[in-house]
Amino acid sequence: MSETAASRSLTGAQVGIPPRHIDFKFSREADRYFFYDNNPLASLLFVVFSGAFPPGERFFMESVRNFRDQIQDPVLKAQVSGFMGQEALHGREHERLNDLFRERGLDVDLPARYVRFGLRQLERFSPRLQLACTTMMEHFTAHLAEQWLTNQALTDSSDPEMLKLWYWHALEELEHKSVAYDVFELIGGTQKERKQAGWLVGLFVMPAVVAAWLRLLIKEGQLFNRAENRRGYRALFGRGALISNVLRHMPKFWRRQFHPRQQQTQALEEAWRTRLFGPQGELIDVYRNPAKAAG
Ligand SMILES: [Fe+2]
Ligand SMILES: [Fe+2]
Repeated sequence: MSETAASRSLTGAQVGIPPRHIDFKFSREADRYFFYDNNPLASLLFVVFSGAFPPGERFFMESVRNFRDQIQDPVLKAQVSGFMGQEALHGREHERLNDLFRERGLDVDLPARYVRFGLRQLERFSPRLQLACTTMMEHFTAHLAEQWLTNQALTDSSDPEMLKLWYWHALEELEHKSVAYDVFELIGGTQKERKQAGWLVGLFVMPAVVAAWLRLLIKEGQLFNRAENRRGYRALFGRGALISNVLRHMPKFWRRQFHPRQQQTQALEEAWRTRLFGPQGELIDVYRNPAKAAG
């Protein structure tokens, strides 16, 4: 379908989802290797995430693109454009970070390979189910993002340079957290399909993530580093810890009346937009398209 005048009249930025071109420059200091609290187990999980994001976000974009022609509402169309732009740029910047990991000898291609294999299995199912899987993974990502922006333990113990990329990514995940779901609703997506998505992601994507994490831990010679692994496990899965806080929100995805906007993050987003991109913003010096992103 050709683009109508209405669809051209709104951009992602005008509906609050601006694709921001950020030009991260990572310093090459050796101590940036295990950037989360100098702990291998916890740091390697984020290496796995970073490796998985480029193929994962491509899958998200494709699964939404399959239904783009059915969208008539100019606002949703613009939100989808913003979503596509943001996810594409996340993939690009994570590739840059992944280059840094490669330079450090970390096999960040391993999680990418494993997760790509898992996603290829999802592609055997209908485009509707693929979109349902995307909405589930976006729900996970949105809660992970909220943790990145609020979890003090994480902020206190992580490498500040590295955090900047995750902050930017997290903010934008919250800005576009409803888009894939709104498209899913538009095509009449059901609770049953959301439940099926739970099985599919649980069967094909989660094992890929866990297997990649374990393989990296083995490759780094850290599998039997018991004291550090206990400490890392507590930092991720202990009470009130980062991943525990994400997982406890997952069951909401299968509620009948679920919608991503029930995760109320507007005030948090506003605060972080100012902190990162305001006049004195922490990322203002590496932010390449502020005029365009302002709408
Ligand atoms: Fe993303
Ligand atoms: Fe996303």
